[in-house]
Amino acid sequence: MTGENTVEPMKFYFAPMEGITGYTFRQVHHTCYPGMDRYFTPFISPNQHHAVNPKEHRDVTGDNNGTVPLVPQVLTNKPELFLWAARELKEKYGYEEVNLNLGCPSRTVVSKGKGSGFLAEPDKLERFFDEVFSAVEAAPSEGKPGEEGAGYPRISVKTRLGLEDVQEFPDILRIYNQYPLSELIIHPRVQKEFYKGIPHLEVFAGAVRECPHSLCYNGDIWCLEDYIRIKELFPTVKKVMLGRGLLANPELVLELKAYENCMAEGKEWNGYQISHAQLKKYHDLLLQGYLAQMNGDATNVLFKMKELWGFLGQQFPEERLVKKMVKANKLKEYEELAARLFESRGV
Ligand SMILES: Cc1cc2nc3c(=O)[nH]c(=O)nc-3n(C[C@H](O)[C@H](O)[C@H](O)COP(=O)(O)O)c2cc1C
Repeated sequence: MTGENTVEPMKFYFAPMEGITGYTFRQVHHTCYPGMDRYFTPFISPNQHHAVNPKEHRDVTGDNNGTVPLVPQVLTNKPELFLWAARELKEKYGYEEVNLNLGCPSRTVVSKGKGSGFLAEPDKLERFFDEVFSAVEAAPSEGKPGEEGAGYPRISVKTRLGLEDVQEFPDILRIYNQYPLSELIIHPRVQKEFYKGIPHLEVFAGAVRECPHSLCYNGDIWCLEDYIRIKELFPTVKKVMLGRGLLANPELVLELKAYENCMAEGKEWNGYQISHAQLKKYHDLLLQGYLAQMNGDATNVLFKMKELWGFLGQQFPEERLVKKMVKANKLKEYEELAARLFESRGV
């Protein structure tokens, strides 16, 4: 590898996760664990009535996002709807980049030919990009996409490898390679695998060889060792996106950055201890944040918090207490159990 590649710092992205990484979650994570280079919104679904619906508006508006570095994501298979949403996200909300979702594996999305469902129709996908990038090029503009005077934001893609089989990917990649995407984020699984099995790293390796775009790796980075493995396998890839690993350990980004700093300074790595005090702050701010977002609706807040413990529970050996929390019927009961759990960690 060249010296240039080794000095370029790694960038860390927080994956979009529908129902979880909304504006409250992102703000709280960014406050407690600053260091992510980007967060992505869960997908916005434009239709003939609106580019951005009221719930999506609340998620993308600057009022709810403060200084969080954010890229909105759009899910559609219609070029005119994508262009409408992209224009609106730039003009009304000031976003310089929009991400197209070509990875969502959910059956309702796939059955409409969207998300990873769109990957099953390469001809249609090519026509989609033709139309989108022709419009971007033709738009009256005083700058490149994403710049202030430009009509459209930059366009990036988050993709899976196909619907059924990784053999589909070379044709899909050939399409991506023809258009000026600002970056390509690859989750190397096919739709039918959902989140099961092992990511197809050999197929990602093919993309590293053959794709001219700036690449981001996404998938199953749960801990430092997983990260080091990806870094060693793909030393030219300078961006990683983390999802569930950050739900399980929201401090993981700080650990990865500490490791990078340690390596840059040529020091020995002595491991990393997460702070349970900071985790408590994160937990408490999330709880307060959701109560504010949901106007005090304790039932829904309880649901949100319990969902998180499916991941966060891994940080606590006190399995029985975590199980009780996940079964709690009242927010008050949940809060008491959470306080006990953190007390058991000395905070
Ligand atoms: C509950 C859930 C919701 C998700 N929602 C989205 C989404 O809105 N847009 C998207 O591109 N990916 C979505 N994903 C996929 C993640 O962004 C990411 O690609 C996936 O979790 C793999 O990364 P990980 O192994 O680091 O978690 C979702 C994943 C989960 C588990």
